[in-house]
Amino acid sequence: MLSQKALLLGASRRPELRRLVTGTPATRRVVDRFVAGETLDEALVVVRRLTAEGIAVTLDHLGEGVTDRSEAVRSRDAYLALLDGLAPLGLRRAAEVSVKLSAFGQALPGGGTDLALELVRPVAEAASAIGTTITLDMEESATVDSTLAVLAELRRDHPSTGAVLQAALHRTLDDARALAVPGSRVRLVKGAYDEPPEVAFQGRADVDASYARCLGVLMAGPGYPMVGSHDPRLLSVAQRLAVRHGRTAGSWGGEVLYGIRRAGLRPLAAAGCSVRAYVPYGVDWYGYFMRRLAERPANLRFFLRSLATTS
Ligand code: FDA
Repeated sequence: MLSQKALLLGASRRPELRRLVTGTPATRRVVDRFVAGETLDEALVVVRRLTAEGIAVTLDHLGEGVTDRSEAVRSRDAYLALLDGLAPLGLRRAAEVSVKLSAFGQALPGGGTDLALELVRPVAEAASAIGTTITLDMEESATVDSTLAVLAELRRDHPSTGAVLQAALHRTLDDARALAVPGSRVRLVKGAYDEPPEVAFQGRADVDASYARCLGVLMAGPGYPMVGSHDPRLLSVAQRLAVRHGRTAGSWGGEVLYGIRRAGLRPLAAAGCSVRAYVPYGVDWYGYFMRRLAERPANLRFFLRSLATTS
């Protein structure tokens, strides 16, 4: 039988359910916890607030899995507008951006990887021009090779381009070793997608153990590890590894998703480490929102209650 998590992740890819959820006013309040707003102006309000509190941000213009080139071009343009909006704030690395290559046409037939590279390159250039950088999110396991190929190309001109690795995947220890190189920035996360046992660890304990192993490799290397997790146990592991490998506070950082357990980063901030929130915004929040529901049964119960009380 399918788990609740698998059902929700399956639903995240079904457009007919998307209309059901996004067309309901009651969902708005629940969505607001995880999404900084639908417009760039709303997102910039959150950016100003968080950075004033000493929390760096990485902004995600929501959208994924585009089905034609014109949508992919629109994603590029949305990111260029975002970087234009960030420029006058002068935040430099305190405001980075995160991109999903599936929003840039990665999955389109006949050269999706090339199209994604062509469209994301100007975003990396615009980011460099205002003193910041981009990080490539990681999506389904089938996209990892393509995403790492785009990363390698972008890093030729923009060496600080970062990537996400998912501890849930069996391959990630090798990918972490390959990316533990000077100048490299790797955001390590557990992994939010439903993956089969052939490619991914299935149990929480195995994923956590993989996370600790991969983080050990990244912390031992010369790059900049970004610890993308809300798990207090793994944040403690990160602190211990940083001490073991003689890392200074400025040579790694902790990162959380907007709306989730920001207080968990306090010990890192107290130790002088950079703390960053991943801030998504835009109208296309359905897939992102469903993954947040899938991560935590309590979110789903809260969401269903809010539907029931307003109908
Ligand atoms: P875990 O799931 O064990 O959660 C630890 C605790 O955090 C929970 O007990 C709960 O208190 C809280 N928590 C976690 N998720 C919650 C939620 N949805 N709602 C409320 N509370 C919650 N994934 C991916 O596949 N590709 C990517 O590119 C990214 N990018 C990314 C960036 C950043 C900065 C972060 C923090 C995470 C991602 N992720 C991601 C998501 C990641 O893979 C993972 O699904 C979530 O971070 C949840 O895992 P935790 O490590 O937080 O542990």
